[in-house]
Amino acid sequence: MKFFIDTANLAQIKEAQELGVLDGVTTNPSLMAKEGIKDQDKIIQHYIDICNIVDGDVSAEVISTDFKGIVEEGEKLAALHPQIVVKVPMIKDGVKALKYFSSKGIRTNCTLIFSAGQALLAAKAGATYCSPFIGRLDDVSQDGLELIAQMRLIYDNYGYETQILAASVRHPIHIIKCAEIGADVATCPLSAITALLNHPLTDIGLAKFLSDAGKK
Ligand code: G3P
Repeated sequence: MKFFIDTANLAQIKEAQELGVLDGVTTNPSLMAKEGIKDQDKIIQHYIDICNIVDGDVSAEVISTDFKGIVEEGEKLAALHPQIVVKVPMIKDGVKALKYFSSKGIRTNCTLIFSAGQALLAAKAGATYCSPFIGRLDDVSQDGLELIAQMRLIYDNYGYETQILAASVRHPIHIIKCAEIGADVATCPLSAITALLNHPLTDIGLAKFLSDAGKK
């Protein structure tokens, strides 16, 4: 399973990259705003900065909601850097745009996926990645991981090449369950990735090894 980091924070992206397990980055307008990056020139430069830190795919989200606007914006984003993947919302014009981008060889990430039907449409339209928001489903008492399992079954039934990119991942159990089910990618906050490191028996065991190593 690929690990993406879900942030626009350059320090966190660098930290994940240095850990050696990072395969890409996802951003969205909320994550950009959280870093105080709002004007268009700064957003563009920020995407380029992110691409210069990581080796993998970097999702950059359009904010237009009509076909023409999504296409114009997406083509500009895709032209910024070969690592850019155009993030498109799951709306009617978004689906049309996914099909258009796919025909032009522009890679896409269909975002705001909350049902298997939406995931099927995104795959049929040729999305490169499809992003179910599992934490937000959990927040409204629906099982986000169940959606990942439905998507895995549907995509495998028909050989869709669209990659399942589990998003709105909140904690290590989400990551482990996504890996068990067979999500292609999990995009996570840095805290969820580093939480995978921890086990109290590792700490106790290491302390014992170090203490025994110091004994004469
Ligand atoms: O990748 C989607 C993500 O940024 C949303 O996460 O925690 O706001 O639901 P969250």
